[in-house]
Amino acid sequence: MKVLIADKFEAEGIAALEALGCRVMSEPELGPDALGEALRRTEAEVLVVRSTKVPAAVFEGASTLKGIIRAGAGYDNIDFKAAKAKGIAVSNCPGMNAVAVAELTIGHLIALDRRLPEQDRALREGHWDKAGFAKARGLKGRTLLVVGTGAIGTEVIKRAKAFEMKIMAQSRSLGDDTARALGIEPIAYTRQALIEALGRADAVSVHVASTPDTHNLCGPGFFASMKPGAYFVNTSRGEIVDEAALREAIESKGIRAALDVHQNQPSAKTTDWTTPVAQAKGVAHFTHHCGASTDQAQLAVAEETVRIVRTAMETGKFINCVNAVGA
Ligand code: MLT
Repeated sequence: MKVLIADKFEAEGIAALEALGCRVMSEPELGPDALGEALRRTEAEVLVVRSTKVPAAVFEGASTLKGIIRAGAGYDNIDFKAAKAKGIAVSNCPGMNAVAVAELTIGHLIALDRRLPEQDRALREGHWDKAGFAKARGLKGRTLLVVGTGAIGTEVIKRAKAFEMKIMAQSRSLGDDTARALGIEPIAYTRQALIEALGRADAVSVHVASTPDTHNLCGPGFFASMKPGAYFVNTSRGEIVDEAALREAIESKGIRAALDVHQNQPSAKTTDWTTPVAQAKGVAHFTHHCGASTDQAQLAVAEETVRIVRTAMETGKFINCVNAVGA
C-alpha cells in the first residue's frame, strides 16, 4: 500500500508501516494547497495527516486514494463529507492521546491556581514578590466541572480525583451507573442543568468535539453563570469558546482562563500569530495546541495508525471510520 504522510509522524510508525510492506512517503511540510498535487504524484492510497487541513479540492484527481487517517482524535480539519461523496474513508485514532491532553489540563489548572506564568515573569523582570503571590486557593476540596466525558474527560476526572477535587460532569453519554463508578456527580444533559452546575464550580474544563452543536457552547450566558474568579480551561477546540465573551469575563469577573486551542488559530506549524484574548487584563494563560504533543501520546497514535493500515491491507476496510465508508 502507498502511504503519504503529510505531517510529522513518529519514526517507529514509519518503520512499522514499512515492515508491513507499505511504500511510505513522508512529506511533513506539505500544506493543504500542495496536498492534491502530492496525492496525484505519489498515487497514494492512504493519506495520514495530523493538523494539515484536507479540503474537498484535495480529492480532485486523487483517484487512487482510498482512506485518510487522522493521526489524532478530532477530524474537523478534514472535509469528511466530501471524502464520503468520493468513497474515501476517513478514520481517526480516538483516545490515543487522551492522557497527554489530560496531563496538560491538570497542568493548566495548577498554573491558574498558583499563577505560575505570572510568578515566572515577575522574577525574570527583577521583582521578588512572595507577598503578592503567597495566596493561592489550592485544588484539594474544590469543585471541578468537566464538560464532556469521552476519553479525555475521563482521564481528566481520574487525575483531578487524585488531587482530591470534587467532580461534577456533564455528557450526553454519562449515565448514573458510570458516574457512581467514577465517584462523580452527573449533571443532566440540559442547558439549564449546565448553567446551574456552572454556578457551583470552582473550575471548569471543556472536553467536547467541535460540531455545529458545540460552536460557541461557552458564550456570554455560560460565563455569566460561572462563579467570579473561577478557573476555565479549554483543551478541545477553539470554536467551542466565544472568545470575546471570555475576554469580557476575565476582565469583569476575574475568571482565570487557560486556552490550548484558539479561534482561527493558524494551520501553519510556525508563524507570526496571537490571539485577541492575550490582550485581556487578568489571569489568562495560553499554549500552542500542544495538548497531544507528548512522546507517549504520539507513539500510541502512530501504533493505532499502523493498526488501521494493517487492517485495511488485510480486509479492505478502514476501522475507526467516521464517515461511514469502507468499514
Ligand atoms: C486531536 O484531535 O487529537 C488533537 O487536537 C491533537 C493534535 O493532533 O494536535
